[in-house]
Amino acid sequence: MVRMQKVWLAILVAAVAGGVGAAALPSAAIAAGKCDGKAKPCPLQQWMRDNAGTPMASGELAAIGKAMEKASQFGGPNMTDWAKLAKKTADDAKANKTDDVKADCKACHDAYKAAYVNNQALRNKPLP
Ligand code: HEC
Repeated sequence: MVRMQKVWLAILVAAVAGGVGAAALPSAAIAAGKCDGKAKPCPLQQWMRDNAGTPMASGELAAIGKAMEKASQFGGPNMTDWAKLAKKTADDAKANKTDDVKADCKACHDAYKAAYVNNQALRNKPLP
């Protein structure tokens, strides 16, 4: 009985929070790993803070170059320009072009951040 209630709660939580994207994953898994982007940061959000935001703030462009090569694998389905945008960011970072890098960060955020954040299943998925 208690078990059933848990399952229904998980389905309810996933349905309310997830919409279409969540339906692709087992609802209980989403409920268990749920990030909120605030107190519980999401995988890519935390990764970006550590591997893009922090090195950008201290001008470590070499670190950004490496990080953005990795980030090329983190895009969601249908984010067809993701890898290209990440690669351009990596190339500009390696070439030490700070202003271009800043524009590159913004280009990807403008293109995909909202879509990424709104896709609960993708946003909760651990990074590859
Ligand atoms: C290829 C796409 C892409 C590129 C390039 C990219 N980002 Fe991001 N970034 C994202 C997405 C998508 C999110 C949202 C993740 C989330 O909230 O789940 C994000 C989130 C962030 C966050 C977290 C913000 C928060 O809510 O705390 C920071 C910081 C960040 N990016 C910094 C950077 C910087 C600095 C660069 C450039 C050096 C950069 N990003 C380049 C896609 C990208």
